[in-house]
Amino acid sequence: MKILMVGTGYVGLVTAACFSEMGHHVICLDIDEQKIANLKKGIMPIFEPGLKELVERNVEAGRLSFTTEYHDGIELSDVCFLALPTPSHEDGSCNLSYVYSAASQIARHMSSYKIIVNKSTVPVGTSDQIKQLISSILKERDAEIAFDIVSNPEFLKEGCAINDCMKPDRIILGVENAQSAKIMHEIYSSFTINHDRIFFMNLVSAEMTKYAANAMLALRISFMNELAHLCEQTGADIKQVRIGIGSDQRIGYQFLYAGVGYGGSCFPKDIRALCSIAKQHDVSLSILEAVDQVNERQKKMLARKIYSYFSAQGGVKEKTIAIWGLAFKPDTDDIREAPSLTLIQELLNQGAFIRAYDPVAIANARKILGQHPCLQFCKDEYDAAHRADAIALITEWKQFRFVDFPKILPHLKQKVLFDGRNQYQLSEMRALGFEYFGIGVPSSKKELSLIIHSLQEKQKNGLPSFSA
Ligand SMILES: NC(=O)c1ccc[n+]([C@@H]2O[C@H](COP(=O)([O-])OP(=O)(O)OC[C@H]3O[C@@H](n4cnc5c(N)ncnc54)[C@H](O)[C@@H]3O)[C@@H](O)[C@H]2O)c1
Repeated sequence: MKILMVGTGYVGLVTAACFSEMGHHVICLDIDEQKIANLKKGIMPIFEPGLKELVERNVEAGRLSFTTEYHDGIELSDVCFLALPTPSHEDGSCNLSYVYSAASQIARHMSSYKIIVNKSTVPVGTSDQIKQLISSILKERDAEIAFDIVSNPEFLKEGCAINDCMKPDRIILGVENAQSAKIMHEIYSSFTINHDRIFFMNLVSAEMTKYAANAMLALRISFMNELAHLCEQTGADIKQVRIGIGSDQRIGYQFLYAGVGYGGSCFPKDIRALCSIAKQHDVSLSILEAVDQVNERQKKMLARKIYSYFSAQGGVKEKTIAIWGLAFKPDTDDIREAPSLTLIQELLNQGAFIRAYDPVAIANARKILGQHPCLQFCKDEYDAAHRADAIALITEWKQFRFVDFPKILPHLKQKVLFDGRNQYQLSEMRALGFEYFGIGVPSSKKELSLIIHSLQEKQKNGLPSFSA
């Protein structure tokens, strides 16, 4: 099959590389000229394990190529996929301008039957809007060209995107007729050889499925984060609670980790977009509004713990905090809405010095955080901990679980670990001489959680405490 992939980001590039690996001929199109020029030279725009090798192999085999020209790309393909950004507007609603702009370009350049497949996460009803847009442009052109719209939401996870794409749990296809269903089945059948995991449904159900999946996952995270807070007040251990509830097959273990809150390019914007869609339809989705609020609060939780700890030493001003991990999750360089950014900005505002390290996300973090006299990016986790008053572990990269602490100890000013991902345990850190503070787990000082609680109470009553 000849495929055009419009948008060569995390979703577009990975999917295009996987399609070509399965024998399809794929042209990747992007309006970012630098990105396309780099891809032609073999330079990847993102970090994703295994991607570079996959791209190189398929470029060499002549099945994968790159362009900035809509005309060539559309002319040479039967099926056009859209993998475009759908960020939030200020009010939380979904910004569809990238999707509509690409759909318009396709309508202007197409000269024969095409299937236009939307992979971007979009509000329910968008496929219909795309259809109307393309029809109106074709009418303007006085061109009678048939086309079909398919909704094919994407479920890959950054960090293991290639595996998710090659061995998907399911492929959701919103279709309107048998012809497009048959062609889509042809494209995807080689991905589900072992047993058919292709589910056909109508367009709006496919669009809703994507939001519903992300909402359910985000809900589990916020639920655990709320419970973690209660665990801190009661002495329960959220890690044990997770095992206790996860062993129930109806619940399962996935996405039940308490931590510093969810981030990334999907959950935050998709939850807000779904709330906005509900409002437009006069439907109450109060549970998801709470999920978002809990997450915003959780992203500030570690900063609260750090302030509380240092309140006995005059605050965090001029204290050095080592930050381990910047990406919103391990195995990616994506820092969109990453909890690390909230923490760093809060600490910088309070006058702390930050020494930050991430295995692959420093370049992206630099773009967002810019230059700051109190912010230094470091060469590894040991360098970041140099002369630190505390270490804050924010992203659960494997290398942060196997740190050679005796190597760090002589260089620390104070031995304190704020573990935003519950990677360590109080007993093991205590044995190393550390004070340890996790999320919803036994920590060094019970009083600390009580201080936080009382600060929150003060805040509720309008008394000034710290920014939150
Ligand atoms: N990143 C993920 O893990 C993930 C997972 C599932 C679904 N999604 C959804 O997939 C969509 C794409 O996400 P992403 O993370 O790949 O985005 P991205 O920002 O990484 O990539 C989008 C690409 O589209 C390009 N682009 C913008 N306008 C264009 C146009 N008019 N023509 C051609 N190219 C254009 C940009 O230059 C960029 O390279 C979003 O709707 C997102 O919500 C993302």
